[in-house]
Amino acid sequence: MGASHLCQERWLSWPVRLGSGNPEPGTPGLRHFPLSRSPAARRSCPAALAPVAALALSLRLDPDIPARLSIAMANFPKALAHGSIIPITDGVHCVRGSFNMGPAVTIGRTMTVVDGGDGLVVFNAVRLSEEGEAELEKLGTVKHLVKLSDSHCVDEPYYADRYQPTVWSMPTAKMGDLSVGNPIGAEGPIQGAKVIGFGDLKGWAESAYWLPVGGGTLITCDVVQNCTDQERFSFIGRIMCNMMGFKGGVVTPPMWRKVQKLKGAELGDSLSTLAELKFENFVSGHGGPVIGGADKIVKGAIASAVAA
Ligand SMILES: [Fe+2]
Repeated sequence: MGASHLCQERWLSWPVRLGSGNPEPGTPGLRHFPLSRSPAARRSCPAALAPVAALALSLRLDPDIPARLSIAMANFPKALAHGSIIPITDGVHCVRGSFNMGPAVTIGRTMTVVDGGDGLVVFNAVRLSEEGEAELEKLGTVKHLVKLSDSHCVDEPYYADRYQPTVWSMPTAKMGDLSVGNPIGAEGPIQGAKVIGFGDLKGWAESAYWLPVGGGTLITCDVVQNCTDQERFSFIGRIMCNMMGFKGGVVTPPMWRKVQKLKGAELGDSLSTLAELKFENFVSGHGGPVIGGADKIVKGAIASAVAA
């Protein structure tokens, strides 16, 4: 089980003390595991792994199938329930998917796909079903994969393997099972776009991306989320997220601020570039897109978080 399986939604995880591994900043000896993927859980259900092992073995015995494919099919997380590809503005689309935090705990997550000129650019990757991939491939060929955050990385290795894109990431990103790619900054997959950083974050590396299309379009991961609805959440997922403050429209969630150890003026400084941007449209790693007048809404969310 690669490190990429351990990184989605760290705030809905429990700490497990280990003798080695990759400790979280400021928490020596602790490593966070999603509820459904703890080592104990994996050890306790070997029967569940039998079909996967059998498939992997059968594929390896077929000389016409590359070994890489057999490894990929055995190890990458499967596609989870998701919706159709939604157009946002010129060449920008999103897909609202889901993520299983643990037994009966499902939340929504959102992938953004942009036509970058020489092919599609994927942000906040979400693996799609076969039908979803066929829909995606009608838009073009995936040529670039942008890692905006260390937190939404569970499906990035699948995209890297499936489409062999150029990978772009922040220099401080934890790449996990993803090969180190190009540093995203002045250079990037979309001409005229900007990377918005938040300084030296204490929780995990994260940035946002501004596109010069549709009157300006902002893509974030977790720093600002659209919690207007809870599409694809399970009942328990809804309760948990409501309790943790993932509610109330477009917000900079309390849990994000807590994990990043930011509040008040320090939070305002970290998000100042984001708050000053002009953009009509906004899509986050969670929730639906905001189309039209989005910068005022995001600026309001940041101001509320700073004042909290
Ligand atoms: Fe997230």
